[in-house]
Amino acid sequence: MSNLKQVLYEKIMSWRPRTEKLLKEYGDVVVDKVTIAQIIGGMRDLKSLVTDISYLDPMEGIRYRGYTLPELFEKLPRPKGAEMPYIEGIIYLLFTGDIPGQREVTDVADEINKRRILPRYVYEVIDAFPTYSHPMAIFSTAILTMSRESFFSKKYHGGISKLDYWDPTYEDALNLLAKLPEIGAYIYRKLYKGGQRILSNPNLDMGGNFAHMMGIDKPYDDVTRMNLIIHADHESGNVSAHTGHLVGSTLSDVYLVISAMINGLAGPLHGLANQEVLRWLQDLNERMDGKIPTLEELRQFVWDTLNSGQVIPGYGHAVLRKTDPRYLIQREFCLKHFPDDPLFIYTDMLFKVVPEILMEQGKAKNPWPNLDAQSGIIQWHYGITEYDFYTVLFGIGRAIGICANIVWDRALGYPLERPKSLTTEMLEKIAMGEHTD
Ligand SMILES: CC(C)(COP(=O)(O)OP(=O)(O)OC[C@H]1O[C@@H](n2cnc3c(N)ncnc32)[C@H](O)[C@@H]1OP(=O)(O)O)[C@@H](O)C(=O)NCCC(=O)NCCS
Repeated sequence: MSNLKQVLYEKIMSWRPRTEKLLKEYGDVVVDKVTIAQIIGGMRDLKSLVTDISYLDPMEGIRYRGYTLPELFEKLPRPKGAEMPYIEGIIYLLFTGDIPGQREVTDVADEINKRRILPRYVYEVIDAFPTYSHPMAIFSTAILTMSRESFFSKKYHGGISKLDYWDPTYEDALNLLAKLPEIGAYIYRKLYKGGQRILSNPNLDMGGNFAHMMGIDKPYDDVTRMNLIIHADHESGNVSAHTGHLVGSTLSDVYLVISAMINGLAGPLHGLANQEVLRWLQDLNERMDGKIPTLEELRQFVWDTLNSGQVIPGYGHAVLRKTDPRYLIQREFCLKHFPDDPLFIYTDMLFKVVPEILMEQGKAKNPWPNLDAQSGIIQWHYGITEYDFYTVLFGIGRAIGICANIVWDRALGYPLERPKSLTTEMLEKIAMGEHTD
């Protein structure tokens, strides 16, 4: 058993009694009430999910396993000479809850390395797509195709105790996490670089290897580490994480789960917002004929977008009520590496004008930027100008958190998800105080 799996096993064993006790002794304790506005309004803020992988505080932002992102960027081990920590370290942390040392990170790197090779048919499936397909559709399908590899499915159909579900799920999760960078990089090279694949370098860490397979020089390895780490999880209620949990609750295998969550991530109100930001900035650039706008011209552009009934991409959030710390981490990186990049200058100017405009408009509950406002311009700076591709990068990162969640869901025996729905008439009766149920 690998070090990661052994530690995970011990953690699961010591955690199970806590969940069992809550269910057995406190199962009837009321946690929250639900209003009609929440039922119609997408269950905002309804406390109805449990996860220990991460927690999102509206004011503070995300904590992974109790640590803020700035804390993690400081504590996690990093490759020699690198600015950003190992992605392997965040895998260890999210699965076990412990900050890894160099030994643990090396162990995860070995595990990833052993499992990264793609079956031949995955390349064939990717090659079979028309080149004008959206990379997220290709990405989701490539993952889905590998469902036939699932170790969990084989074990399940062969007969396995519920208490052991987590084990083959863990194997599937690690197998898939190791393969996602290979799939993502191949899709990129196939769609935009004439199909010239660059083979993996097993001597590199995940971030270094991804940059290598993309064919992009340093510091793109650090960009990849930062990017995958900040996208890895955002508690359970966002669409990709919730989709992962929901689909996983039927005991679908990890490939089916991650393909499904990728489809949720591909919507413009969720992960696709990072490509929308770039599209919007390009519109601005065209309108300004390449010159830097004045703050007044920028205000007009923002108002024109709002007045045409569109949202400002990269701003607002369903939970956060302040500037996303993931935005700030990336902003710091931009300030350090390319403060004079025109797109960064636009982005920073927007940071000055958009919040006050959204406040003046008075609709958005959170007028501040989220991570998507900044992530695409970093990719653009390092040569990935094909912004359709950005959400694939988000998906590779997000899969880490969702895989950790699915393994723990199975370890703690969380059941099939099945909320109850009502009809509009029933809600009307409840509103009038007539409902008797
Ligand atoms: C993220 C988002 C989907 C959250 O949605 P939400 O929880 O419904 O947000 P709110 O409760 O603040 O929405 C209230 C109103 O403000 C509007 N609003 C929210 N963010 C806005 C934005 N960035 N620009 C313009 N209007 C916005 C909503 O469209 C809604 O309008 P409506 O009452 O006419 O339907 C939303 O802020 C948004 O669309 N942002 C832009 C896309 C984006 O950046 N997505 C990535 C999120 S990480």
